[in-house]
Amino acid sequence: MAYSEKVMEHFNNPRNMGELENPSGVGTVGNAQCGDIMRIYLDIDADGFIHDVKFKTFGCAAAVATSSMATELVIGKHITDALKVTNQAVCDALDGLPAVKVHCSLLAEEAIHAALWDYAEREGIVIEGLEPPKHDIHEDDEDEEEY
Ligand code: FES
Repeated sequence: MAYSEKVMEHFNNPRNMGELENPSGVGTVGNAQCGDIMRIYLDIDADGFIHDVKFKTFGCAAAVATSSMATELVIGKHITDALKVTNQAVCDALDGLPAVKVHCSLLAEEAIHAALWDYAEREGIVIEGLEPPKHDIHEDDEDEEEY
């Protein structure tokens, strides 16, 4: 299994790692199979634009790299566009992930969705197309045999 240079670069120099003191929304998701956990903090302004993002990930190199890339992809975006940042988009931005590591990028997508859900609940708003968060992303994992 080989990681792309971009994956290694983000793993070695993760962007936006840490936490926010007064986040607009926080999402935590995990994968019970590997035990990895990812938390995303969002700072969203009154117009719905993401001003700041931080992440904390207890996981493998791919999980750290996808968290880092996911924060870069959503920062500055409106929440409706952030919702469209899929795990595929994160994988592509990292020049791909080994097949056995694609599930790690799902954590990033789900953590962003969970943080957006938390924000929507706090604000009492509905974000079109946003599904309630799963706490264990393994529940819906279609690539089970790839572990
Ligand atoms: Fe669990 Fe990568 S092995 S997220």
